[in-house]
Amino acid sequence: MKLTDPQFLAALPDLDVAHIPGASLAARTSLGIGGSTDLLVIRRHDSLPALFTLLQQAGVAFRFLGGGSNLLVDDGDLPWIVLQLARHDPEVTLEGNIATMDAAADLGRTVTFCAKHDLGGMEGLIGVPGTVGGALRMNAGAYGMQIGSYVREIQLYRAAERRIIFLRGSDINFEYRHTSFALGDIMLAVKLELPSKPYREILQGIRICNEKRRSSQPLNQKSAGCIFKNPPGASAGRMIDELGLKGLQVGDACVSSRHANFFLNAGHATADDMLRLIAQVRDRVRAAFGVELETEVILWPAH
Ligand code: EPU
Repeated sequence: MKLTDPQFLAALPDLDVAHIPGASLAARTSLGIGGSTDLLVIRRHDSLPALFTLLQQAGVAFRFLGGGSNLLVDDGDLPWIVLQLARHDPEVTLEGNIATMDAAADLGRTVTFCAKHDLGGMEGLIGVPGTVGGALRMNAGAYGMQIGSYVREIQLYRAAERRIIFLRGSDINFEYRHTSFALGDIMLAVKLELPSKPYREILQGIRICNEKRRSSQPLNQKSAGCIFKNPPGASAGRMIDELGLKGLQVGDACVSSRHANFFLNAGHATADDMLRLIAQVRDRVRAAFGVELETEVILWPAH
């Protein structure tokens, strides 16, 4: 979608919002799939209410992009624009056991920064790509931990109320890859309360998690992490593997031969290739195990 309304465009510089016309979403997602549309980068959180009023007045549809690491975006000319928060420097500040960070901060860098200051707990998240905000929304977790356990307070923009609000960690349900945030909530900043641990000990934990990940997951390849959630008491990856579906390919989309719940863009896969692969695998799992797999990857269809 192209933003053309001159009044709308003229209002953006005062709000400290940068306009990037025709931004490629393939270039901004870890799967490397997705068409293009105009992108607005928001440099000041307090511009959000005015920006949302402008978007509503102009009747412009939009989506909100975090780090793009758990996202499958449709191909072609997309019928909505994309909003994204700019990163702020410094991304993390510390006060005792409380680490305050920008939602746009890189998750991995945040984990290592906290570790260097003797704050642990997030070792399992090392190697999970994306932003802190994205990790919060999905309640990212691995190796027995989840980010939600450490949330003391979150600052977010609640689109439905057109205002910035603060929520205590205890006000939010953090479940397996699911949270009680509203659809229009935009994470802005978070305070995590982290356990004190000596850096050496945290580093040891990080090394172990890195090693486990390296030995079981296809890193450095274009993926969105696990494509399906694990059904209660079962492993999606194991079921897909047991059906012999590793390597199954539709166009350039394929099931990883290393971990069967990772689907890769092995070249120039389209969203359609990936969606057809997802549907085929889901059908096979349903037929063999009577289990309906639910996608963990977030889908942004054009229509
Ligand atoms: N397995 C197979 N074949 C495979 C993959 C896995 O037999 O191709 C078996 C493994 O041998 C193991 C079991 O299935 O016995 C579980 O596999 P794994 O330990 O790799 O964990 P997972 O349940 O597949 C989950 C998360 C990952 C997270 C790891 C480590 C989900 C959907 N996935 O994977 O998170 O990194 O545990 O804690 O919850 C993600 O969310 O994107 C993600 C990658």
